[in-house]
Amino acid sequence: MVTAIATPNIALVKYWGKKDENLIIPMNSSISLTLDEQLKCIAEAEFANGKDEMVVNGKPARVDDYRVLDYVRKLAGIDKRFKIKSDTWFPVAGGLASSAAGFAAIAFALAALLEEEEGIELSIKDISRIARMGSGSACRSVLGGAVEWLAGTNDETSYAVQLVPFEGVELVDVIGILSHEEKKFSSRAGMQMTVKTSKLYRERMKTVGERIEKARAALKEKDYETLFAETMADSDSMHACMMDTQPPLNYLNEKSLEIIRRVNGLNEKEGRIVCGYTFDAGPDAHIITESKNAADAEKLFGGITDEIIIATVSCGPRVLG
Ligand code: PMV
Repeated sequence: MVTAIATPNIALVKYWGKKDENLIIPMNSSISLTLDEQLKCIAEAEFANGKDEMVVNGKPARVDDYRVLDYVRKLAGIDKRFKIKSDTWFPVAGGLASSAAGFAAIAFALAALLEEEEGIELSIKDISRIARMGSGSACRSVLGGAVEWLAGTNDETSYAVQLVPFEGVELVDVIGILSHEEKKFSSRAGMQMTVKTSKLYRERMKTVGERIEKARAALKEKDYETLFAETMADSDSMHACMMDTQPPLNYLNEKSLEIIRRVNGLNEKEGRIVCGYTFDAGPDAHIITESKNAADAEKLFGGITDEIIIATVSCGPRVLG
């Protein structure tokens, strides 16, 4: 049996919408930071006799999740069955996305198992493609530091690459848990509705490529003011498209909106952009800032929540044994 650990990532330029629903090929490239092991998923993989078995957080996996195992068999050219167990470890019971860490850990554990027991060595690109088949954003969690998921056009060309190793990213994600409710719409169903019905989304598609270029350069040059500006603009753009969906998708709550006001207020007071907010398909706030400003960002949650995680940028998944 092989065990691997992986962590979530926070997207600074978001993925919301697919060009291929079966292969999980996104409409646009996205950029993220891989977070540290305060938030983590540990996955175990072994070969099974009989049929595939997959248990996620103590419950049987969804039928869709088994696609990952078919994909691995095809990629490795083998016909064995697998037994998978994965568990998420988060310090607070928030609605933080766990599927990215989960599928990255599963992909890593499967790759390690194939290497140890079959002598089949998969590249990091292949491991990223395996994770992608579980949950799109998971393909970015197979690498540490700052990562770009190259949208590509087909299965071969859609995978993640590292932009900057973790030592070169002096940023933290100050996460405030703002709700304990379950997500109203899964991201899979939500993004499908947006692509289908939002006119604003077509406008987003015209400019998101330029934003990727800017964010990539800003990360490499440590031009964090530009990076935070692009991060906020991209979160706003994605949530505007969500609201422009029929029926509208509103993932934010009053507390999220208050955090947006406070972040803008702090940046105005400082006379420069010292931090940027971003939100996924849920109300929890992520404030991205330079490590040295983590305490100031944390203060922005005063009176709103005391469930705060200051996540640093990590080196990515590893095999535990
Ligand atoms: O990978 P999924 O299906 O959980 O989609 C996640 C999409 C967002 O978190 C909203 C954005 C992103 O790029 O992570």
